[in-house]
Amino acid sequence: MGVREILKMGDPRLLRMAQPVTDFDSDVLHLLITDMLDTMLAANGAGLAAPQIGVDLQLVIFGSHARNPRYPDRPVVPPTVLVNPVITPMGALEEKDWEGCLSVPGLRGAVPRWSCIRYTGFDQYGDPIDRTVDGFHARVVQHECDHLMGTLYPMRMRDFTQFGYTEVLFPGTAADQDD
Ligand code: NI
Repeated sequence: MGVREILKMGDPRLLRMAQPVTDFDSDVLHLLITDMLDTMLAANGAGLAAPQIGVDLQLVIFGSHARNPRYPDRPVVPPTVLVNPVITPMGALEEKDWEGCLSVPGLRGAVPRWSCIRYTGFDQYGDPIDRTVDGFHARVVQHECDHLMGTLYPMRMRDFTQFGYTEVLFPGTAADQDD
């Protein structure tokens, strides 16, 4: 299988409420995660949700690698497989920053997100994950988990004056740089 096709905004499969994973540590799950990793790395993404490749499951992967050329100045987020996630905001503070999405290629928008969150869930083996994070890490998790609820980042935007084409907003950024 390897690299899969990434669905683009407008595809109704991106708007579904994803189903919980019930079988952990299975061959099917491990193969799916391998394909998602291959797909994310091939696209230089910071994260990928299963619905983006048409798989209706509550599964996201994310993580920045030290040499991701797309985020040279952003903090490293540990490579993570997160299954059946639950996000709880810690406090009422929000912050706005630029996001892109592999399902919305060529565009960027400024999106308000909770500044600090706790997220819980499981890894692919069924072992629990429980982290409290802020900043870019918190943003990536909120963006990816939104995909499991059929929400794409433009749906979170409140100010569409901060929405546009990457090469116009950020001249010099390579055209293929989308989240
Ligand atoms: Ni996305």
